[in-house]
Amino acid sequence: MTMFNLRNRNFLKEIDFEPRELKYLLQLAEALKVAKFAGNEVRRLEGKEIALIFEKTSTRTRSAFEVAAFDQGAHVTYLDPSGSQLGHKESVADTARVLGRMYDAIEFRGNNQDDVEELGKYAGVPVYNGLTDQWHPTQMLADFLTMHEASGKAYDAISYAFVGDCRFNMGRSLLVMGALMGADVRLAGPAELQPPGDVVTLARQIASRTGAHVAITDDAASAVSGVDFVHTDVWVSMGEAKDVWSERVRLLSPYQVNTALLEKAGNQRVKFMHCLPAFHDPNTTVGREIMDHTGMDDGLEVTGEVFDSPASIVFDQAENRLHTIKALLVATLGD
Ligand code: CP
Ligand code: NVA
Repeated sequence: MTMFNLRNRNFLKEIDFEPRELKYLLQLAEALKVAKFAGNEVRRLEGKEIALIFEKTSTRTRSAFEVAAFDQGAHVTYLDPSGSQLGHKESVADTARVLGRMYDAIEFRGNNQDDVEELGKYAGVPVYNGLTDQWHPTQMLADFLTMHEASGKAYDAISYAFVGDCRFNMGRSLLVMGALMGADVRLAGPAELQPPGDVVTLARQIASRTGAHVAITDDAASAVSGVDFVHTDVWVSMGEAKDVWSERVRLLSPYQVNTALLEKAGNQRVKFMHCLPAFHDPNTTVGREIMDHTGMDDGLEVTGEVFDSPASIVFDQAENRLHTIKALLVATLGD
């Protein structure tokens, strides 16, 4: 393994690390995953204190940060969406300077990328983006580890398509991370929901130096042709108004990941991925409401048939949040 010193570095967006540094983090995650299951994990974060700020809800990201910290001997403080003064009574810069005096690192999930950038600027300790509207960088580490494990391919030999809302965090992150890793990445969504021009330009610039292949289209069938993996995400993200649902369903129904679309990959080993949570059955309050309203009983962004099929590796992907976030903590904070 080629080692890099990432101590005290922020991870606010994918481009904060060079491709070789991202690959090192992924190798470290593989090693930490093996060590955990072999029972010989070495605790490199004894006595470290990590603040976890969540302005939006979370299951996987919070759990992954907490279990990773505990496995490595660190402690965490969870600040829930209403549990701190941040934003309403205290500025981000002041909060950063306070928390930086008490904690060794800070994770932040919220709407605005500017907020996590400001935390990173003022905290004086590593800051990690646990999701903003613009980027979901820790999810990218898990997604690439999962694709590498499932395909056995080198990162720059992997091909994947993301179909759905390409202008939000997951579409943008999969585009730029694919470019960084030298992968073959295709995004498919309606014209109204494609990534902004500056993000496309960034991805193309990165691709020109990494050898990545980057394509953006409104044609889901052509995007999935020949790929190893098909990704999607919810059609309405956290923080968006509820009344956008009907317009989103109208725009994105042609991009639902169903058996017919997976077959268009023309690859019997194609795998389905989703960062989760997913609306694939009526067993959630929101899912039930939208399914009742639209008559889409088989699921929204993905059908139950695909979600529960052998092609679906979404729970491997969810588990890898733990191992990859642990690698990030160990690399930036470990003794
Ligand atoms: N994928 C993901 O970030 O999940 P949570 O919202 O549950 O953290
Ligand atoms: N796009 C989704 C991702 C959730 C992990 C959201 O922001 O709600």
